[in-house]
Amino acid sequence: MPIFEFDYEEYFDDQSLSELDYRLIMSAREISNQAYAPYSNFRVGAAVMMQNLEIVSGVNIENASYPVGICAERSALASAISQFPLQKIDAIAISYIAPLGDSNKPAFPCGMCRQFISECEDRNGQSIILFLTGQGGKIYKIKTAKNLLPFSFSGKDLK
Ligand code: THU
Repeated sequence: MPIFEFDYEEYFDDQSLSELDYRLIMSAREISNQAYAPYSNFRVGAAVMMQNLEIVSGVNIENASYPVGICAERSALASAISQFPLQKIDAIAISYIAPLGDSNKPAFPCGMCRQFISECEDRNGQSIILFLTGQGGKIYKIKTAKNLLPFSFSGKDLK
């Protein structure tokens, strides 16, 4: 029977990261505080590393009409693609501040954001590394959004 599995890296402290990866993760952690999340109080921050080493950040922005709100990942990626349409995206770091305080374990992107990041990879022509982290604690490094979205739907399916 076919099996889907993937390898990922775990970092138990910030010191074992490269300087560039550390900068990206810190950007995601810091921007989390600027989320507009008056309904859930769950503040998410995402930071995107472009090929030219520019970092573009985004936060979740909620709305009184709940489904109108946008996640931090899509907010950061929309901003990155708008500002640097010709630059490839190398990586995205995702962090959060939870309302009840335990913000020290990795955050996982929602299904819609996995789909969104996956299409950014297709547009890019290269995969996007994901760093999943809280404000501290363990960090997951995952090579591609496709690893979090087996059998994904894409533009190819529309042909
Ligand atoms: N949220 C994100 O920003 N990213 C995710 O991947 C998961 C969820 C936001 C949406 C909403 O504003 C809040 O977290 C609670 O679901």
